[in-house]
Amino acid sequence: MKRIGMLTSGGDCQALNTAMRGVAKTLFNAKEQVEIYGFLNGYQGLIYGKFRLLTGADFAGILTKGGTFLGSSRTPFKTIREPGPDGIDKVAAMKQTYYKLQLDCLVILGGNGTHKTANLLREEGLNIVTLPKTIDNDLWGTDMTFGFQSAVNVATECIDYIHTTAASHGRVFIVEVMGHKAGWLTLNAGMAGGADIILIPEIPYDINKVAKKIKERHESGSRFTILAVAEGAISKEDAALSKKEYKKKLANRKYPSVSYEIAAQLQELGGGEVRVTVPGHTQRGGSPCPYDRVFASRLGSEAAKLILKGEYGFMVGYKNREIVKVPLADVAGKLKMVDPDASIVKEAKMLGISFGD
Ligand code: F6P
Repeated sequence: MKRIGMLTSGGDCQALNTAMRGVAKTLFNAKEQVEIYGFLNGYQGLIYGKFRLLTGADFAGILTKGGTFLGSSRTPFKTIREPGPDGIDKVAAMKQTYYKLQLDCLVILGGNGTHKTANLLREEGLNIVTLPKTIDNDLWGTDMTFGFQSAVNVATECIDYIHTTAASHGRVFIVEVMGHKAGWLTLNAGMAGGADIILIPEIPYDINKVAKKIKERHESGSRFTILAVAEGAISKEDAALSKKEYKKKLANRKYPSVSYEIAAQLQELGGGEVRVTVPGHTQRGGSPCPYDRVFASRLGSEAAKLILKGEYGFMVGYKNREIVKVPLADVAGKLKMVDPDASIVKEAKMLGISFGD
């Protein structure tokens, strides 16, 4: 008999349910008897002992459902060693829940912050297997995370919608894309949606070059321009600031986000009417796309395989088109960013897309 705990932590995304179903179905199909305990609302459920025994019925009909049926929450890693508002020692509490339930392993689905805590629990002696979740695709150790392709679909669709109205009115449109500090989502959705300008955090922009590109387009007869701007996009000027100075500047910024600042600057530079569209959390919502359904199912199934073999301390990732196991110790605390010299960036430039650099 194996007793497994399962939790989803951090921002949700499409295919979390799909991945958990993949783990459960594979475990339930194995010869060994298995009990799966689901912790509610991420690490909070583990800290406060909020869980329930899951059955086959919990995993039925969820292949295509977005969100997470266990609920999720953010428990920032930097606060994990600090006592909670009720004075609770979070790490000790999580260990206590694990040992009380006599778990053999915890399956943790999450992104960067989640992986730091997962690795800490591993260091504390718990058996952990993780799955790479995030629309940002910025998790180190895997070429792809689940949720990413679905979010690319949503953001692309948004750019597609904007295209028709931008063309009718001859406007400059900015679509602000999520992705936290990484540009994967913007780069992919921008290329898929035919954006003329793509601004990502890894390639700081010069606003004059952005304005020049728009001017050139208009002079060559294009009536409209679409910019895909990452929420973490940064100007060359701001990129030269120290972390502290930049934080201070952000705190005093009079615009709700970088896109509105860029819109105001472009208007000042004579870019004409500039509109901003922010699809925001819609990028994390709805059903997982077919790619993510297959991908998350495969990852989940491979995680179950590791558990059945008793191989713990790994994230199940994807490298060079193969499902691989990556030591958690290697994953935790690292980000995977877009390489400005990557071939996809070069190809985008050859297609005429400006990165404002
Ligand atoms: O990490 C996923 C993500 O959607 C980021 O792209 C975004 O910056 C952040 O989460 C938004 O967080 P929240 O849901 O807490 O507003």
